[in-house]
Amino acid sequence: MSQDIKLFPINYRLTPPRIEIHRRKFYPPSDLDLEDQPKFKYLEYQKAYDLSTPYVRQILRCVPNQRTYEHRLVDVKIQNLKAGQLPCLPDWHLDCTLDPLHETVPETHHLFIWGADCQTQFVMSDLELSFWNLDFKEAYNQAVLKQNPKIWLMPELKLIKYHRHNLHAPSPAGKTGTRILVRVTETNLVPPKPYREKKLWWIFGEKS
Ligand SMILES: [Fe+2]
Repeated sequence: MSQDIKLFPINYRLTPPRIEIHRRKFYPPSDLDLEDQPKFKYLEYQKAYDLSTPYVRQILRCVPNQRTYEHRLVDVKIQNLKAGQLPCLPDWHLDCTLDPLHETVPETHHLFIWGADCQTQFVMSDLELSFWNLDFKEAYNQAVLKQNPKIWLMPELKLIKYHRHNLHAPSPAGKTGTRILVRVTETNLVPPKPYREKKLWWIFGEKS
């Protein structure tokens, strides 16, 4: 029998850390704010700040630099969504690593969303998980389906702070429109990615 096959699951209780909501309420972006804003994936904070529009900079400035992590990385995602469309893969997940027992210091994330009536949903009560062969996504999806935990839809135009162990998933767009997501990831696990200019997005296409 292969040593890779696990006869027993790893059982783990996922307790969601408290999610904080920044007191500031942002105004909705104009078309111009969105048109001029480049997209980023795990770009180093200062580079992202320098390349961003005043609209995104005001969000980034609300994330204090605690200097407790090796990297502060910025994602900016702008999408035109149709009603019912998902902004990313539908699965329940943790960011940066799906493994809740990963040995690195757990990340802190700061997230802002607006548009298309498309809010990220978070699990707010304990989940009992069983990982067979470390198939994390399957375990998360099954646990949410069967245990029917408390779910919270994050508000638009607010900045929230969440952590590695806050399980979350996209919700489908409630209406057709443009959506912007801005996220700062404080991490020791994920390295910065280089900036790819707009013309390269056309050639290579956009991933998640
Ligand atoms: Fe996520």
